[in-house]
Amino acid sequence: MTDHIIIERHGAAQVLRMNRPEKKNALTREMYARMAAALAAGDADDQVRVHVFFGVPGAFSAGNDLGDFLAVATGGEGGGEVWDFLMALAKAEKPVLSGVDGIAVGIGTTLNLHCDLTFATPRTVFRTPFVDLGLVPEAGSSLLAPLVLGRQKAFSLLALGEGFSAEQAMAAGLIHAVVEEGELEATVLAAADAVAQKPPEALRVTRDLIRGPREPLLDRIQQESELFRQRLKSNEARAAFMAFMNRRKAG
Ligand code: COA
Repeated sequence: MTDHIIIERHGAAQVLRMNRPEKKNALTREMYARMAAALAAGDADDQVRVHVFFGVPGAFSAGNDLGDFLAVATGGEGGGEVWDFLMALAKAEKPVLSGVDGIAVGIGTTLNLHCDLTFATPRTVFRTPFVDLGLVPEAGSSLLAPLVLGRQKAFSLLALGEGFSAEQAMAAGLIHAVVEEGELEATVLAAADAVAQKPPEALRVTRDLIRGPREPLLDRIQQESELFRQRLKSNEARAAFMAFMNRRKAG
């Protein structure tokens, strides 16, 4: 097992730290599996009151590992770990916070749509190049982004793949606050501590009311996943993955 996901406890906060800096935190199947297991374990643990996601300095996540996508595109199996992670995230029973610094591509952006509070640094850019990769949105983002951002900004993010700076993301309601790099971790952990101090039952009911029924979200993730799997095997997607994998050779 690698140390690409580090699970730590800070008081009542369970911290899930993505830690594959040499690949800008591109997520492998193992990383998804470990995060799914940690979310489920944290939800089942009375000592844990809140989940927190961090990346490494400069890279929250560059999204799904494109090598893994290419493997599926060229006939391999895969996707079960991603599915498990998305289910664990969408069904998480305890509040989820995130601290984002730098690169936030694909799931590195859409994960935050599930978060109750996201803090990001000024150098952060949120981007989802799904369509450019021949793909479709995932993680329920086709439902959540229009709800959070409105349809036009959702189109700009999800269909055009336009980057949102931290300031733009805050103005659009995608994140809670912008904080300097040096203060990110302490700010998020302080927020997690504040969440953890609340009476857990009242907080759980309040959070459920704010989020509304989960079925539409789970249905949309299912629908997106089927389309995503089809798109992974499309010529458009295969060509985009090959172009990324070969870009150094070509350059
Ligand atoms: N999958 C696999 N490897 C990835 C990756 C991904 N999603 N994102 C980055 N990497 C790898 C690069 O191939 C490179 O590996 P190498 O050093 O062995 O060549 C390493 O991480 C560093 O990336 P690099 O591109 O040199 O960093 P950068 O700062 O110039 O650019 C990104 C960072 C994220 C803008 C760029 O890597 C990128 O566009 N990645 C693809 C993002 C993506 O499309 N994700 C899928 C979304 S659905």
